[in-house]
Amino acid sequence: MKFDTPAGENPIDRLAVIGRPVDRYEARLKTTGTATYAYEHHDVVPNVAYGYILGAAVAKGRIVSIDTRAAEAAPGVLAVVTHENAGPLDRGKFYVQRMLAAPEVDHYHQPVAVAVATSFEEARAAAGLIRVAYERAAGRFDLAAQLDSAPVPPPAEFGGPTESRVGDFAGAFAAAPVTVDETYTVPDQAHAMMEPHATLASWDGDRLTCWTSIQQMNWGTRDVAAILGIPRDHVRLVSPFIGGGFGGKGTAQAELILAAIAARAVGRPVKVALQRSLMFNMTIHRPKTIQRVYLGAERDGRLTAIGHESWSGNLEGGRTEPTVISTRTLYAAPHRLTRLRLATLDLAEGNAMRAPGEAPGLMALEIALDELAEKLGMDPVELRVVNDAKTEPEKGIPYSTRRFVECLRIGAERFGWSARNPLPGSVRDGDWIVGLGMAGAIRGAPISKAGARVRLDRTGTVTVETDMTDIGTGSYTVVQQTAAEMMGLPLDRVVARLGDSTFPETPGSGGQQGAPSVTAGVYAACAKLRDAVARRLGFEAGEAVFADGRVSVGDRSLPIGRAAQEGDLVVEDLIEFGDLSKRFAHQTFGAHFAEVGVDAFTGEVRVRRMLAVCAAGRILNPKLARSQVIGGMTMGIGAALMEEMVVDARRGFFVNHDLAGYEVPVHADVPHLDVHFIDEVDPTISPVKAKGIGELGLTGVAPAIANAIYNATGIRVREYPITLEKHLAGLAAI
Ligand code: MOS
Repeated sequence: MKFDTPAGENPIDRLAVIGRPVDRYEARLKTTGTATYAYEHHDVVPNVAYGYILGAAVAKGRIVSIDTRAAEAAPGVLAVVTHENAGPLDRGKFYVQRMLAAPEVDHYHQPVAVAVATSFEEARAAAGLIRVAYERAAGRFDLAAQLDSAPVPPPAEFGGPTESRVGDFAGAFAAAPVTVDETYTVPDQAHAMMEPHATLASWDGDRLTCWTSIQQMNWGTRDVAAILGIPRDHVRLVSPFIGGGFGGKGTAQAELILAAIAARAVGRPVKVALQRSLMFNMTIHRPKTIQRVYLGAERDGRLTAIGHESWSGNLEGGRTEPTVISTRTLYAAPHRLTRLRLATLDLAEGNAMRAPGEAPGLMALEIALDELAEKLGMDPVELRVVNDAKTEPEKGIPYSTRRFVECLRIGAERFGWSARNPLPGSVRDGDWIVGLGMAGAIRGAPISKAGARVRLDRTGTVTVETDMTDIGTGSYTVVQQTAAEMMGLPLDRVVARLGDSTFPETPGSGGQQGAPSVTAGVYAACAKLRDAVARRLGFEAGEAVFADGRVSVGDRSLPIGRAAQEGDLVVEDLIEFGDLSKRFAHQTFGAHFAEVGVDAFTGEVRVRRMLAVCAAGRILNPKLARSQVIGGMTMGIGAALMEEMVVDARRGFFVNHDLAGYEVPVHADVPHLDVHFIDEVDPTISPVKAKGIGELGLTGVAPAIANAIYNATGIRVREYPITLEKHLAGLAAI
């Protein structure tokens, strides 16, 4: 199916099951602990061995020698794989990291060897017996020290152009009566998903099957094949359940590649998991950014100039963190300049983490707006309303939907924003100083071609297969809902099978395009199945009504399963998208409101309550969407208050590389979170008219909290996370 004109009314609009807060498809499996995550595939292949990865002990330099003799002689050891015996390894496409130091070391904890043994304990013990001699070299580890040497890189596949200009930014900024020019920093952040990276790799001749934890099957097979130098159709990946990814499992990470190599080396299946303490330096992360934001405004609050320049660092060839993308589209202003700069750093690779670009970018931009509002003596909500963009400010095209002002207005109303005292430090509650803050939110709404296979059997049950993954988001459920709606079936007559690369291709879980893309693919396949069913039953395809497990035209009605009486009906289709995303700006919008208390004596910050208002097209399932948003809000609390990978700038590594040192919000840190959805559909995005929401829920959260802290204390912290020592000294004055 080709989707190139806006959708009219279709079977999805009946909303019999779409748009309803139905329970998760896999809820019982997860709550009973019987959903099989990557490391838990125990009986799928016999004779499994275990691999344990040794990470480099230096950040930059080269391996002079590796002595594996003691490890190889240790009990149960089958092999020790290093760059000397691994065979050639190419790089994938998405990442620039190399999966083995060979012999140059690019970053700390880059894999150096994998010890393989008959048990996990033997493999771990053997890894400890490998002796590696390194020659250390000087590295570049401190982004701040590299600013002057950081060029504007060429445009990349992600994040659009690296520089954009509209009008005369410099002139307009210089002439503006009210300006903000401040620098903000967002530190290196870890995905810190619950399930570690893990893979069971098994070869059958020259064909490889990996039970693994990967968000994007299509990238995974592409990259595994490229790295190992084997045909793509010889690679099968299986990930039925994924314990969180946040972009950290976009495609193959080291454990997948090394499990495959180790399995080939020992001639039996090998299982490898990354222990938590390797994950922070061995895999990817959200790279630190230093961001300078310029705002120039008239006294009535109208922005005349917006500028945003942002620095990040990466390994040679790595991508920039595209923080400026939301600055290009959130607010109107005639004169604009955005620019990304990229330094070379010898730290682990920076790459996608939930709302790459928007999440850290808004952490800067939305504080700057708060600073401007204060200078203007204007309410922060009103400032954003006044500067709402009517058309896309850089491309000049219309937004398909843009309900940003409603998000702001409804949020202000529901949160009780009018009670806010704009004077910092003016509200006390015992020892607590109380503040309210808000921020706007925006995240692009990409959508990509997606396929699905649907099978109707004689019992009237439809089975859907796609390579879509479920990273905790609810993919199974929205696939089930879409097929049920299309075929007029109750939910329990739809079986959803996901997470197998042999199923029809989708973009997988990433960039919040999973749900909109896969539901559109299921729509296409089901549209085809409806035609086939109607034909089989002797109905005119356009006239048949599918409802309650029956197909009817006029007063003639048959159970749907009758169409499969002679054998299953199986059809497959792929939805492809025309140029609607070029004719319309596809975005999702939101507004976040936060109330915090700051302990006047200790500086401790507690988030007291938060509200998110989101506009993201049709909400497929409000229960799941709310889960997505409150997950994003929780992550935003972490970004605002806790999360930071601390760089040892002498030795070149992330020091706090475990969940004791890398703090994320726990239950006690998270108060009641309220979520409200704006009722809208976007017929230009797909026949299902839904956009993603998983990343929108994070963007804007941290700056709303930062602005609330400022409203409480009057101390502007521009360096995340806002830990108590950053405002403690100033609190004495309040
Ligand atoms: Mo996302 S950071 O594209 O999983």
